[in-house]
Amino acid sequence: MNAKYPSESLTTLTDLVLPSETNPLNNLFGGELLARMDRAASIAARRHSRRIVVTASVNHVAFNRAIPLGSVVTVEAKVSRSFKSSMEIYIDIWVEDRESGNKTKANEAIYTFVAVDDTGRPVEVPQIIPETDLEKQRFEAALRRKQLSLVLAGKMKPEEATELRALFV
Ligand SMILES: CC(C)(COP(=O)(O)OP(=O)(O)OC[C@H]1O[C@@H](n2cnc3c(N)ncnc32)[C@H](O)[C@@H]1OP(=O)(O)O)[C@@H](O)C(=O)NCCC(=O)NCCS
Repeated sequence: MNAKYPSESLTTLTDLVLPSETNPLNNLFGGELLARMDRAASIAARRHSRRIVVTASVNHVAFNRAIPLGSVVTVEAKVSRSFKSSMEIYIDIWVEDRESGNKTKANEAIYTFVAVDDTGRPVEVPQIIPETDLEKQRFEAALRRKQLSLVLAGKMKPEEATELRALFV
């Protein structure tokens, strides 16, 4: 199976914030943003693996900035690292200024997807070759994040999380 570059999975979704998608402060409802990110991440995982993919975990979401009604929001998702059947997807959220058109980063998130066959059993995915400095940084830290996610999900014993332990010992 040939390795791929993160850029091959890049998925960009741009959409408006409509009144039905806001909270009482007229900012984008968190669950709506989670759904948009899940869609973009799932397309990125599919582009990388060319398989059926399912969300295994939402590893991290930082709602750093509120996104007001009427904003133009861009969700940018890319596979940052693949393992055997799982893929870490890194998502950046950008908000476009109406007058200048400049984009400001509002939030970011990390999801894990797993490629599966028709019966839902995990299948292997291509490895990934990071190219840019940012892609290399995200690639390097991804194993640590995978171990943390597995420990929190009760699927790995803390003492087996060697990458995590290395941070503290
Ligand atoms: C995700 C799923 C396919 C994993 O199946 P499983 O039987 O646990 O299979 P495995 O234990 O072999 O795990 C498969 C891969 O997922 C990874 N994984 C599983 N849970 C994970 C978690 N919480 N965080 C990070 N990675 C996880 C494993 O480490 C493994 O990775 P690898 O093959 O790259 O080493 C299965 O749990 C599932 O189908 N879940 C429901 C998915 C779904 O419906 N999502 C939509 C939400 S409603």
